[in-house]
Amino acid sequence: MSIDERMGLAIDLARRAGALLRDGFGHAADIRHKGVIDLVTEFDLRSERLIVDGIREAFPQDAWLAEEGGLRGSGEARWLIDPLDGTVNFAHGVPIFAVSIAVVQAGEPVLGVIYDPLRDELFQASTGSGAFLNGDRLAVAPTVDLNESLLVTGFAYDIRTADEDNLDHYAAFALRSQGVRRLGSASLDLAYVAAGRFDGYWELSVEAWDVAAGVVLVREAGGLATRVDGGSDILGPPISVVAANARLHAEMMGVLRKTV
Ligand code: IPD
Ligand code: CA
Ligand code: CA
Repeated sequence: MSIDERMGLAIDLARRAGALLRDGFGHAADIRHKGVIDLVTEFDLRSERLIVDGIREAFPQDAWLAEEGGLRGSGEARWLIDPLDGTVNFAHGVPIFAVSIAVVQAGEPVLGVIYDPLRDELFQASTGSGAFLNGDRLAVAPTVDLNESLLVTGFAYDIRTADEDNLDHYAAFALRSQGVRRLGSASLDLAYVAAGRFDGYWELSVEAWDVAAGVVLVREAGGLATRVDGGSDILGPPISVVAANARLHAEMMGVLRKTV
C-alpha cells in the first residue's frame, strides 16, 4: 500500500470537503437529531459523500468506515472518515470544526489529515514521516508540570446516561492545570496537541473516526497517545485517548487512575 498516494488524495478530499463546509457554515437549515443531543446536518452528509466518492474512484480496493454511512469493503487499507467533526458547533454557528480523514492498516492508524476550513489550517502526518501544519513541522509542547499545562477534553453524547461521564476527571484536571478547554471537535483537540497549542488531551468513549487521524499527528509530533487504561491498542473498543508528551502523559495517567 502506498501511503504517499493516499496522502495526496486525503489532502485533496479534506480541502474540497472543507470548502463545502465553509460555504455551508451559517446556512445549515436541515438539522436532524441522531439522539437527544447528537445532531446531523445536510453538510455532514454532503461532505461525507464527496470524500467517499473520491476514495471509491481512486482506491476501489480499499475499505472505508464513515461516520454517517458505516463500514464498506474489506481491503487491507481502511479509511476512517469524520466528514464534519464539530457538528454541534457548526449547527450553532460556532466556528470550530474540521474534516478528519485517516488510513488504518492492520488496526494501526498510519495516515492522518485534519483540515480546519475557516482558518485554512491543514494538519497532516503519516507514520515515520513527521507531522506538519501547512507544511511546517510540528512538535508537541515540552510542558512536564500539570500546573503549567493547558488541557482539552470532550464529552460523549451519552453523557446523561453513561456510568463514566468524564465529569469527575474534568473536575480533577481543572484543579491541577492552568485550564481545561472543551472545543467540541476531538480531531482539532488532537491536532492542537500535536501543534503544541494544548499540552494534553483526554477523552473517554470516542469513535475511531474522531481520533485516528489526530493520534497519528500526536505520535509523529513526538507525543504519546494511548488508551486511558494505558494500552496502546488505540482503536480497540471501547475507544478512549490520552495524548501529551511522554512525561505529561504519565502525570495525566496518574490523575485519571485516581478518579476512575
Ligand atoms: C464529536 C466531537 C466532540 C467529542 C465527541 C464527538 P461530532 O464529534 O468530536 O468534541 O467530544 O465525542 O462525538 O459529532 O461533532 O463529529
Ligand atoms: Ca466526530
Ligand atoms: Ca462528525
